[in-house]
Amino acid sequence: MMHLLFLILLFLESLCYVQSSESNSPTGDNLATDGLPFPWSKVRLPNYIVPVHYHLLIHPNLTTLSFTGSVKIEIDVKNNTNWVVLHSKNLKIYTATVLDEHEAHLSEKTLSVLEYPLHEQIAIFSPKILTSGEKYFLYLEFGAPLSDGFHGFYKSTYRTKSGETRVLASTHFEPTSARMALPCFDEPVFKANYTVRIRRGPSHIALSNMPLEQTVEISNGLFEDHFEASVKMSSYLLAFIVCDFKSVSGLTATGINISIYAVPEKWHQTHYALEAALRLLEFYEQYFNILYPLPKLDLIAIPDFESGAMENWGLTTYRETSLLYDPDISSASDKLWVTMVIGHELAHQWFGNLVTMDWWNDIWLNEGFARYMESVSVEAVYPELKVEDHFLDTCFGAIGRDSLNSSRPISSLAENPTQIKEMFDTVSYEKGACILHMLRHFLTDEGFQSGIIRYLRRFSYCNARNEDLWDSLIKTCSEEDFAAGEYCYSSAQATKNAYRFAGEHVDLKKMMNTWTLQKGIPLVTVKRQGKKLHIGQERFLKIVLPDDPSWHSLQDGYLWHIPLTYKTSHSEHEVKHILDKKSDVLLLDEHVDWVKLNTDMNGYYIVHYDEEGWNALTELLKVNHTALSFKDRASLIHNAFQLVTAGRLSLDRALDLIAYLKSETHNVPLLQGLGYLQSFYKLIEKRKIADVTHNLKTYILQYFKDVIDKQSWSDDGMVSDRRLREDVLSLACDLDYPPCLEKAERLFVSWVKSNGTISLPTDVSETVYMVGAQDDSGWVYLLRQYGVSMCETEKSKFLSALTSSKDSEKLSRLLQLGMEGTVIKTQNLPSLIYMVARNPVGHFLAWDFVKKHWNELVEKFPMGSFGIRNIIVGTVTQFSSAEELREVESFFKSIQEQVSQLRIIQVATENVEKNIVWLKRNLETLRTWLQ
Ligand code: BES
Ligand code: ZN
Repeated sequence: MMHLLFLILLFLESLCYVQSSESNSPTGDNLATDGLPFPWSKVRLPNYIVPVHYHLLIHPNLTTLSFTGSVKIEIDVKNNTNWVVLHSKNLKIYTATVLDEHEAHLSEKTLSVLEYPLHEQIAIFSPKILTSGEKYFLYLEFGAPLSDGFHGFYKSTYRTKSGETRVLASTHFEPTSARMALPCFDEPVFKANYTVRIRRGPSHIALSNMPLEQTVEISNGLFEDHFEASVKMSSYLLAFIVCDFKSVSGLTATGINISIYAVPEKWHQTHYALEAALRLLEFYEQYFNILYPLPKLDLIAIPDFESGAMENWGLTTYRETSLLYDPDISSASDKLWVTMVIGHELAHQWFGNLVTMDWWNDIWLNEGFARYMESVSVEAVYPELKVEDHFLDTCFGAIGRDSLNSSRPISSLAENPTQIKEMFDTVSYEKGACILHMLRHFLTDEGFQSGIIRYLRRFSYCNARNEDLWDSLIKTCSEEDFAAGEYCYSSAQATKNAYRFAGEHVDLKKMMNTWTLQKGIPLVTVKRQGKKLHIGQERFLKIVLPDDPSWHSLQDGYLWHIPLTYKTSHSEHEVKHILDKKSDVLLLDEHVDWVKLNTDMNGYYIVHYDEEGWNALTELLKVNHTALSFKDRASLIHNAFQLVTAGRLSLDRALDLIAYLKSETHNVPLLQGLGYLQSFYKLIEKRKIADVTHNLKTYILQYFKDVIDKQSWSDDGMVSDRRLREDVLSLACDLDYPPCLEKAERLFVSWVKSNGTISLPTDVSETVYMVGAQDDSGWVYLLRQYGVSMCETEKSKFLSALTSSKDSEKLSRLLQLGMEGTVIKTQNLPSLIYMVARNPVGHFLAWDFVKKHWNELVEKFPMGSFGIRNIIVGTVTQFSSAEELREVESFFKSIQEQVSQLRIIQVATENVEKNIVWLKRNLETLRTWLQ
């Protein structure tokens, strides 16, 4: 009986049982563009018409910059209806017909199409009723200009060395732009097969998700490429490109053909990506124990790309800086970036493509996993890159967002396209990844791996929700196995959902819900009394203090199930315990000198010790810092400064704690400590507090003199040494350290003399350019080189240097060029604005620019997109005074209609409040401490 049930369940799953949470009854209050009532009132499509197979023909014209197409969609009808409602945005529909299963027309006339632009939907009226259980075909012809932005089917251009501008057409659909390229059922649950044909001229190639099957010549000079039918997939993963690129290819051990495409003159920059993609794909096939299901995988660098990369199944697209690597020009961190991005998009081929979230509220099931698997895969394939060292930064990023009240739960409601775009944020990516890291540590590597394999198998070619993940993670086992300590749920009812952790039984779903369904991060407080540890948990908040009247309401109802770990001066292994109540008392085996909670920061929580606790750890770092792992050291530094911001620990205590850094040799804690000092410096410099700025600068340079002087101006050493060098020398020159400036100037002069032909050490080249950009001739030379360089990573270093000029006219000129979009491409405008804003001279300039050009910016970067959010955060979070806060608020108030739905406004303004509060709480302490 049990077996039968199980088989039925399996069968249901293989059909991708669509879970529906509400009834889909149409109401007719809304009017279509021609004034007739539109038959559907919801943002989400009805679930009783399901697409099965799309046959798409697309023909872009790269001269007129427009495209036409036709699509025949096989649909299953589940309820009788006269209407087919689907998505379409900015498309002109020329014809629409419905055919029966023998492809006979249901009506002689072409059918009328109603449009409802507010919901990006169209409705087709069939005079004959479409009957439940039958199969039909929907046939549509359509066309539109190629999009001018970065979404839908869009135009991209590049310039050759000889100065010719060439055009290509490429797609980016996620999350809701497939509807800009073809009428379709543009929601992730509507998985279907796609058979694509593309028309192109003789000097171009066409690419799509699947391999080319055949090419036919249609008329002279016009070719039609036919691609194989795809596997079942969501509409946002469809992709097609027409271009004149060149490629390199290789085969994986399992016979998958991998190719890297780029503009012809950048062909030589594709080789590293090929090696990385081959090795990473092989890694994932083994780790997931599921073969990559398509015969080929392309990675292509698109010259105009809004974000970093996109995981279209079989045809992943990248910004040039995320894929191309030039060994002579790109730095160690550029290489690491390319490796990580490839690791990320390849992880999506399983997490996202094979198993897709039911709806965008759970996008973290794609992005959190991809961000986490980047680290896992690159660590396994390229251990010398030491990516895991920097995983803590991912969690620190998440905590920055999650310790403000404007944060959100990992799973949150998102209905319309703007809200959906905004889900691609630090919470889905970084917090998602950190929660998975905590879970992996909790389940052990093997437990985690076998759990996610079970999840991937169970939901292959289907969709999943949060709870499906928790339900799949742990296998069920017999009571005997459970008793014997197996990692499993006992099948007996009494211990169902129980999982063993350090001898305790844990309900995994309940536990994980506390991390994904409520926002924020817990603060664990620790007080030691003899052998007793009194521990408590509260919600960690940066701005509000416990004596604030709003404290209690902000804490109300918050509780996490925290897998605690700790080490003491006397323990060899970490000790584990689940804290699932507000407070608890733990008993230590013996009297100890110190206790450090959250070993290696494998858990997502901050720890606050009592006076003696902090003293003991500060002392330990001073006398014997290697008694703690480098991760523990970095996490202590992080915790201390987080508590300082929150007003729970005084700044001088934290500064005392990092005094040991003079003898620190590991780059992670070093960069952590330096990073905090640098951020204080930047804050105070912008506030023009001359004495503290000066003293802090002197302090940093004196204190870190040894580390700075030790750095060579070369590319020698391990990746970790090289990354430390890059950051340390850039900081030293930024703080005007004379030996640094001299060396950089000398290198710059000889580089200019050689007319840019000698190669500078790649890790320090940006610093050299930055110093060189400080005088007129250097700046002008760099701008000219920016215009002719054929290497995007080099150009981004030039641009960063150009924005560091102290001449505001030069900065305005750059913003202007960014707005025009020819010399400086529009894709680089958000980071340009940010780089100008971080310069004390450009800070207001950038903000004024954003206000003045707001409408044009929104035109280029739609509401909720990466671009517009980076522009807002990049400028606003530089502010730190009450007047500036008022100014920002009044601007957003003036455009409230447009931005009312954006979370990012709250996030940005709360960050300004945080800066204000930081200065109020700490400026005087810092001033005195420096004296
Ligand atoms: N799926 C995303 C691309 C994306 C981003 C689509 C935002 C829709 C909205 C892709 O896998 C991704 O996460 N890209 C990131 C990170 C990448 C560089 C590793 C990006 O583009 O920044
Ligand atoms: Zn991603």
